[in-house]
Amino acid sequence: MSLTKRIFAVAATGAVALSLAACAGTTAPANDGAAASADCNVGISMPTRSLERWINDGEQLQKLLKDAGCTADLQYADNKTDLQISQIQNQVAGGAKILVVAAVDGEVLAPVLAEAAGQDAKVIAYDRLINGTENVDYYATFDNYKVGTLQGQYIEEQLGLADGAGPFNLEPFAGSPDDNNAKFFFSGAWDVLLPYVESGQLVVPSGKSPSSNDDWASIGIQGWVSSAAQAEMDNRLSSFYSGSEVVDVVLSPNDSLAIGIIASLKSAGYTPGESYPLISGQDADKANVLAILDGEQSMTVWKDTRTLGKQVFDMIQQITAGEDATVNDTETYDNGKKVVPSFLLDPEVVVKDDVQSKLVDSGFIKASDVGL
Ligand code: BGC
Repeated sequence: MSLTKRIFAVAATGAVALSLAACAGTTAPANDGAAASADCNVGISMPTRSLERWINDGEQLQKLLKDAGCTADLQYADNKTDLQISQIQNQVAGGAKILVVAAVDGEVLAPVLAEAAGQDAKVIAYDRLINGTENVDYYATFDNYKVGTLQGQYIEEQLGLADGAGPFNLEPFAGSPDDNNAKFFFSGAWDVLLPYVESGQLVVPSGKSPSSNDDWASIGIQGWVSSAAQAEMDNRLSSFYSGSEVVDVVLSPNDSLAIGIIASLKSAGYTPGESYPLISGQDADKANVLAILDGEQSMTVWKDTRTLGKQVFDMIQQITAGEDATVNDTETYDNGKKVVPSFLLDPEVVVKDDVQSKLVDSGFIKASDVGL
C-alpha cells in the first residue's frame, strides 16, 4: 500500500473510530484528520459569488473535503482573470497538491498551471475546461453539448417544429465568449434549431442568427451578466419589433441571462399567458425556479451540482491514493494541447410540473424558498 493510500486508510479508520467513539460517548483522538491534511491539500478556485450555483459548488466541495480531513482553501475570483491567477498562485505557494479550478477565462491559466505542475500539483478543471496547457489532468463537468441539445429539443417539441409548424419569431442568445462551455451549449441547441431557421419555420427578426455554430460568439453575452442580456433584449425589441410583431421563443443558454431577458420582456409589456414567449434556461437557480412557477420562464436544464462536487471529491480521493481518477470520456474535450480525460454527468430538463418531484424532493432546493 502506498503512503497516500495508507493515509486515506488511516483517515477512514479514524472516521469509524470517531463515530464509534461518538456512540460510546467518549472523545476520539484528533490526529487522523491532520494526517490526511498533509497530503490532501486542495485549492478550490471558483469564478464568482454572483451566481448561486458557484456558491453552492464551492461550499459543498469544501465541506466534503474538510469532513474527510483534507485542507481545502476556497477562493472566489469575482469574475476577474487577474484575481483568479493570483489566488491560484497563493494556493500553489501554500502547498496545494491538487487544484480544482472553474476558470473565469479558460484561455489564460497556462502560466500559473505551469507553476503548479512545477510542484507536482494535479489540476482538475471544474465544470469549465482550461485550454492551451498540458497541465490539466482531469475535467469534470456536465455534458455541456447535451445541455444545449435539451434546450433545442424542448423548443422543437413545444412549438411542433418537427411537424412543420411555424413560422415563429426566435431570439437566440449565447453565453460568455471566454467560457469554453458556451460554445458547447450553443452548438447543442443550434444543431437542433438551425435547420428550422433555414427552412423558415423559425425567423430571427433581429438578424442575430449565427449562420453556423462557429459564429456563436457574435451573440455571446460577456461574463454571463443578466443586465447585459437585458440591455441586448431591450435593443432587439425596440429596434426589430413593431406593431403586432411579437417574440415567440428565446433561446437563453442559462438562468442568469434568462433573468435579464424576462425583465426586458416585462418592461416591453409581455405578461405570462397566451402570447408570452418560450424561454429556456440552465442551472435551476432559485429566482428562475420561481419564474418557472410563475410562468415567466418555460424550463431550465438542471445540473445537480451536488453530484459534480461528489464526483470531484471521488477524483481527489483517487488521486491522493496514487491512483488514476475514473473518467468516462476521453474524446470530446481537446484543449488545444491534449484531450483532457473527462467525467461527464447527465443534465436534465425541469419544467413547472417537475419542480416538486425533481428539485424539492431531492433536497436541491427547499420548498419554502420557492413558495411551495
Ligand atoms: C456553467 C453554467 C453557468 C454559467 C454562468 C457556465 O460555465 O456551466 O452552469 O450558468 O457558466 O456562470
